[in-house]
Amino acid sequence: MEVDLRGTMRNFATGVCIATTYADDNSGRRHDALTVNSLTSVSLGPPLVSISLRQGSTFLADLLTTKVWALSILDAGTHDLARVFAQSRDVRAEAVRTLSARPGEHTGALIVDAPAWLECELRDQFDAGDHTVLIGSVVAAGQQHRRPPIVFLHGRFHALKGEL
Ligand SMILES: Cc1cc2nc3c(=O)[nH]c(=O)nc-3n(C[C@H](O)[C@H](O)[C@H](O)COP(=O)(O)O)c2cc1C
Repeated sequence: MEVDLRGTMRNFATGVCIATTYADDNSGRRHDALTVNSLTSVSLGPPLVSISLRQGSTFLADLLTTKVWALSILDAGTHDLARVFAQSRDVRAEAVRTLSARPGEHTGALIVDAPAWLECELRDQFDAGDHTVLIGSVVAAGQQHRRPPIVFLHGRFHALKGEL
């Protein structure tokens, strides 16, 4: 029996964040940003998180070179960013230039103007199937009160309506 993992996981609500990293070459620093919902809190002491990225991704290649990244947790007012940064690298490269963001003090990776953010340094990595799992040491984090976060469920973005 073939397992329908994608179909089943559509029922699992997640938050949505923008992962950022960069590559340095002769022409300077080239930032990239990617929509990600595989963020998991792994350990509190020391603070560790994980994300899982598709093997073959150019974003992953950049991240494995710089060994740093940032994660910005999106709110309901920024769902348009989630759509843009789930597109091809060319589209993302254009969009990243006009992104409302600042370089993180500890990593240099862009932190988006969003309700909460983390800066990470690569601690561990392992390939799992067609993805690579990255364990990051959280070297800085912050939050500010904003609109409720986005929820990704059934392949769509939702605004959280309130507490049960
Ligand atoms: C809500 C949402 C969550 C996503 N989460 C992930 C993720 O955790 N890992 C991943 O590799 N791709 C994820 N993606 C897909 C990437 O954002 C998208 O495929 C990316 O633009 C492909 O870039 P690449 O060719 O550089 O890999 C997600 C897309 C959406 C819409």
